[in-house]
Amino acid sequence: MRFDLFLVPGPVKENRLADRAVVIIDVLRASTTMCQALQAGARAILPFAESGEAAEMRIKIGLESTLLCGERNGLKIENFDLGNSPSEFTPERVRDKIIIMTTSNGTRAYAGIDRSSLIITGALVNMSRVTRAVADSGRDVAIMCAGRLGQFSIEDTLCGGLLIHRLLTETGRRADLNDAASLALLLYRSNSRALKETIAQGEHGRYLRELGFADDVALAAGVDTIPVLPVLKDKRIINNDVE
Ligand code: MLT
Repeated sequence: MRFDLFLVPGPVKENRLADRAVVIIDVLRASTTMCQALQAGARAILPFAESGEAAEMRIKIGLESTLLCGERNGLKIENFDLGNSPSEFTPERVRDKIIIMTTSNGTRAYAGIDRSSLIITGALVNMSRVTRAVADSGRDVAIMCAGRLGQFSIEDTLCGGLLIHRLLTETGRRADLNDAASLALLLYRSNSRALKETIAQGEHGRYLRELGFADDVALAAGVDTIPVLPVLKDKRIINNDVE
């Protein structure tokens, strides 16, 4: 089993994604919020890099069935319905809605990733579901960490390391890791008992806590608390259990 982990988004050679199980990780907070939205009954999430594109799509699909969501610098974008805080995505707000979403890093990681037929949204909160889906696929794995403003982020790398750790432990298959995957595995194994603290002390964790989002940081650091499997199909992220 081959594991390639990418610490930050960037151009990836075609052959490193084709036929892979691709897992896109943005623990703080886009992946976690997507899991929460689907768990709360949202019909689908449409990820966009730019807020203008997202707003145009909303007009195209229609105001009734959609919610425009996302952040810049961690805060809700002006005139949007919701920001990027998982706690905003309650069943009352999002059930049966199409979420049109743009965030600083997380939704951008989906751009251009259509060269594999299995693309999964990964976070700590849904790690068992992701592990099972990747193991069952029998595919080699590409783990794309969204990072933060083009830089490495500790929470995404830890989450990638947990995924690799579980896949190695559960499948017992021989593994071939790129150096970033080995780094993520080492990082996870040396921090497995202090995930919450390590994430809260990371740059993005500190930034969000300063903005008043300490609860989001704590929620995102919980392992297996939102057991959904979001998958990208036809440019929409959907709940694999529903559609
Ligand atoms: C992102 O996509 O950059 C994040 O989800 C930012 C955030 O914490 O809202």
